[in-house]
Amino acid sequence: MVPVPQLDRAVERHRAGSPPWALFERRVRTPRAARGPLPRAPVADACGEIAAALDHPGLGCDRVVYVHIPFCRSLCSFCGYCREIPVTPDTLRAYVAAVRQQLASFAARPWTQSKPFSAIHFGGGTPTLLPTDVLAALIRDVAAALPLAPGAEITVESTVAELESVDVSVLMSAGMNRLALGVQTFDGDHRRSLGRRSSREKVLCGIAHARAAGITNLCVDLIYGLPNQTLGAWKADLEILGTCGATGASIYPLVAFPASELGRKLVTERRDSFVDLATEYEFFMAADRALLCLPGWTRFSPVQYGHASVGTAAYVSACGRGAEILALGAGAAGTLLRLAYFNSPSIEEYTRGWSEGGAWPIGAGRGSDAHDVAGKLCALGETTHFIRAAMPRVPVLLDAIVARLVELGLATTDDKSVSLTSTGCFWAGNICEILSVAVRN
Ligand SMILES: C[S@@+](CC[C@H](N)C(=O)[O-])C[C@H]1O[C@@H](n2cnc3c(N)ncnc32)[C@H](O)[C@@H]1O
Ligand code: SF4
Repeated sequence: MVPVPQLDRAVERHRAGSPPWALFERRVRTPRAARGPLPRAPVADACGEIAAALDHPGLGCDRVVYVHIPFCRSLCSFCGYCREIPVTPDTLRAYVAAVRQQLASFAARPWTQSKPFSAIHFGGGTPTLLPTDVLAALIRDVAAALPLAPGAEITVESTVAELESVDVSVLMSAGMNRLALGVQTFDGDHRRSLGRRSSREKVLCGIAHARAAGITNLCVDLIYGLPNQTLGAWKADLEILGTCGATGASIYPLVAFPASELGRKLVTERRDSFVDLATEYEFFMAADRALLCLPGWTRFSPVQYGHASVGTAAYVSACGRGAEILALGAGAAGTLLRLAYFNSPSIEEYTRGWSEGGAWPIGAGRGSDAHDVAGKLCALGETTHFIRAAMPRVPVLLDAIVARLVELGLATTDDKSVSLTSTGCFWAGNICEILSVAVRN
């Protein structure tokens, strides 16, 4: 059989009696890390190449929009995303003007207008830190500037604390039809230690309030593997999640972002998690079991669950299937044809670059045939399922990988499709990494 070294080592361990959490030495926890083995070739003239790409129609796959609003009232110890505490209201105003400039430069172009977008995701940072009328106008203007599929999902991320000063119905009138609420944990002590400002009671009131205002698709984000978090506390979180009114949930392992306080602590301690793999597996399985038992709920990706009809996650699912992404805002990453582009992660540089109207504050990298193939295959690790007939023609390799995944209990298969098991979802990042390495070689 074709050798696949990482999987062959896992098969040896499995045959020697290793438990499921010990199949691999380390866990790959983010899609970005999983795609790491396939670097893109840097592009010298990013603006020129992006402008040229915008002159062509898209690839025919799904496409979605991401808008990054990188501002928060306070910074949480675990978060490594591009975000800062805004110095003055002018900082926000100038930033939103810059996002509008980028939108205007990308919107009326053949690529952008050639196919409808199925989702728009306003992420952050905390988009609801913007004054509600400013955010509502931005939602309206982004939606009006782009072709949208009927019923397109429009999500806004928020903390519970920021939601208190927001009139949700104004955002809904502007088109928001999904709210992604960062809760992380309902446990009061843990919330305080992470820098979250609302109490458990306030969180529950915030969720009830948003539902009463008419939000039918409300996703709650939770994190496991936090410092000092016990399995008992995590199970209590899951129980509350099941009854709080959420229609969906993102269940993330704590990722050690080097830019975060907790990430730096882990680097100093020379480890990548506060819990060992056996415990992390227990946390994951407890969530997977609890959420799949909720009436009508299903798993959309290894980290995303929800009610099959009112808790859907179109943006995340499309990204997992390798959608093209129109990305606006500092630090946001998009894909146009084979180009991946990266908006400047410096909020100051992004704002100045777009307001002064010179060279776009963007870098880019070019993908290859291997990226196209890996993009399709990694749908297995990012959406947990693929249809064999829709996969690129690398049958020997794919069959060798799938056969090992099945032996390891990470996937099931029939003639038509391959699906991850629950344990496969725990190791989904590793599976994507293995697919990326195999395609690269
Ligand atoms: C970038 S945040 C924005 C949402 C909003 N500002 C909030 O904090 O609720 C989106 C989600 O990413 C997740 N996240 C952030 N840092 C993380 C980390 N280090 N590990 C795992 N998930 C993380 C959190 O669950 C968070 O709700
Ligand atoms: S988790 Fe949310 S509120 Fe906290 S720093 Fe990150 S983006 Fe800001």
